[in-house]
Amino acid sequence: MYSDEVSAFYLTTPIYYVNAQAHLGHAYTTIVADAMARYHRLAGDDTFLLTGTDEHGDKIAQAAAAAGVSPQEYTDRISGTFRDTWRRLGITNDDFIRTTEGRHKKVVQAILQTLWEAGEIYLGRYGGHYCFGCERFYTEKEIVDGKCPDHQTPLTWIEEENYFFKMSKYQAWLIDYVQQHPERIRPERYRNEILGFLRDPLQDLSISRPRTRLEWGIPLPFDDKYVTYVWFDALINYVSALDWPDGDRFRRYWPNVRHLIGKDILKPHAIYWPCMLKAAGIDVYRHLFVHGYWNVGGGKMSKTVGNVVEAFALADKYGIDAFRYFVMREMTFGLDSDFSEDAFVGRLNADLANDLGNLVSRATTLLEKATPATLPAPLAEVAGTAELRAAAGEAVRGVQRAMEEFAFQRALAAIWEFLGAANRYVDSTQPWALAKDPARRGELNRVMATLADTLRFLGIVLDPFLPGAAQKIRVAVNDDRAPSLANAAMGALQDIPRVQKLSGLFPRIDDPGKDRASGAPASSSRPSADQAGQAPPVTKGDFDRVELRVAEVLAAEAVPKSKKLLKLTVSLGAEQRTIVAGIAQHYAPGDLVGKKVVVVANLEPAKLMGIQSQGMVLAGSTEDDGALAVLVLDRDLPPGARVR
Ligand code: MSP
Repeated sequence: MYSDEVSAFYLTTPIYYVNAQAHLGHAYTTIVADAMARYHRLAGDDTFLLTGTDEHGDKIAQAAAAAGVSPQEYTDRISGTFRDTWRRLGITNDDFIRTTEGRHKKVVQAILQTLWEAGEIYLGRYGGHYCFGCERFYTEKEIVDGKCPDHQTPLTWIEEENYFFKMSKYQAWLIDYVQQHPERIRPERYRNEILGFLRDPLQDLSISRPRTRLEWGIPLPFDDKYVTYVWFDALINYVSALDWPDGDRFRRYWPNVRHLIGKDILKPHAIYWPCMLKAAGIDVYRHLFVHGYWNVGGGKMSKTVGNVVEAFALADKYGIDAFRYFVMREMTFGLDSDFSEDAFVGRLNADLANDLGNLVSRATTLLEKATPATLPAPLAEVAGTAELRAAAGEAVRGVQRAMEEFAFQRALAAIWEFLGAANRYVDSTQPWALAKDPARRGELNRVMATLADTLRFLGIVLDPFLPGAAQKIRVAVNDDRAPSLANAAMGALQDIPRVQKLSGLFPRIDDPGKDRASGAPASSSRPSADQAGQAPPVTKGDFDRVELRVAEVLAAEAVPKSKKLLKLTVSLGAEQRTIVAGIAQHYAPGDLVGKKVVVVANLEPAKLMGIQSQGMVLAGSTEDDGALAVLVLDRDLPPGARVR
């Protein structure tokens, strides 16, 4: 990682169908791909990140017709929303490929032609049960009660001539290949799954649909009565974006390609694609990394169930970095995870607001007050400093090991180990105490330099994962170099730089429910929960300290010169009180007389418009138009009765 060697790194995401908007699942793949690409750039690698959209097929043509626009207009629009979403999420893709682009069609046709000429494709007759919803044939084994297992709709028997790719002949080669190169498909469970699939005979792959049935696709170069079908079109994006066969990009990046996918599309990537590559004389990819599925409420995300988490919803609410952190930290790469907003808020508060935010805030607060100075080298050690530097080195090695395996959760855990060590360093060196003792100034300065070094280190290692926060940290410590792992090691900083205080990097969320209901916009710069007027949770004991009592309104009058206030005389049973309430715009003085309301009886008295108010009347109000309603009892209770 610290070497000067420049190596190329090419990473792809799946290209997403344009029949749905981007959601959490798409966002996860794209975010981890982005973190991986940023990490490789940080390590100095020549990095290329590709994403894009998959735009052909019946479903898309139907969706366009339903929207009353041409397929091209429709795909332009939805593909545009994917692009926008990734831009707003700060995704740093180097290219965005669309299967409707000329550069892609050209390569698909060239590969088809190559395979046709090599005798790898033939025209065959096929009869089968077809589902128009899925755009595929089902085998007898897959059919449930004569219906499509996915749509539960009747299937249509279709017999037609189609072109087939001779995939079956690659079965033995593929089994051998997967066994000989165990590192290609990761994590291991997915390699085993593929070897399991390959125990059954591999069929030839139908690669076309007649244009009479499917118009929206790429025509076969050797028979334009047909278009290519789904995977033959889609998979080729990985090389069309590199200008196969003789583009510079292809030469540079293809030998270093890693595909990243969700487990749903394992089979096309681990079976069809290697066979297609082999037949076309293209090297098989270096690695296929497969992640699990996000479930919501224990089940699949689905429009019908209404539990689709839109890609941007949470980023919008809690900030992009918090969203990135949560999805990477929560999901064990390769396994399924359940998504919940409570878990999100839990991590945000514990890991981001507490561990990271507090450290940055404490350290920058101390450093802002410190005098910038160059310390005499070598620095004499303060107890714990060497250990902290060692922890930084260990964190970098931990990140490196984890990222080789796409284990984002472990990479973050390694950085959080270091954060723990850094927080302990502040606790044990107690710089605020050192600052009070002029005799210990030297020691204080060395601690300050180490804290600045800690922040500088974090501004680099956090960059792939929390790019926004990392940049703020670098700005706070005046580190304007392009972040690079080559500069990460702690110990090189011999001075106390000028530092600006950085607090509220990740404000605590105290009541996500409240935020949800009010739909308050939020970003990483949203006000802290307290500023936003949200109460932190209270214990039952806290609540019991508020004395709520039933009060009968005996009299009411307007307060002179005030539009808002009414002066109420209320009975609490044993005593009468005067309460000034801000309800005059909603209630005429006579409206409440005789009613039983609820008051805070132990509120500190306050003077309002010269009148001593001895309590507060409870009322609810809407936030937008301020409509207000006083709480009244729906059954009789004597004045003075306690409310709890
Ligand atoms: N167009 C094909 C892929 C062609 S690639 C040559 C396709 N598109 S898709 O829009 O359905 O996207 C599938 C991908 O989205 C998954 O592989 C995964 O990356 C992501 N996810 C979609 N739903 C997901 C979850 N619920 N959880 C995690 N990721 C999921 O298939």
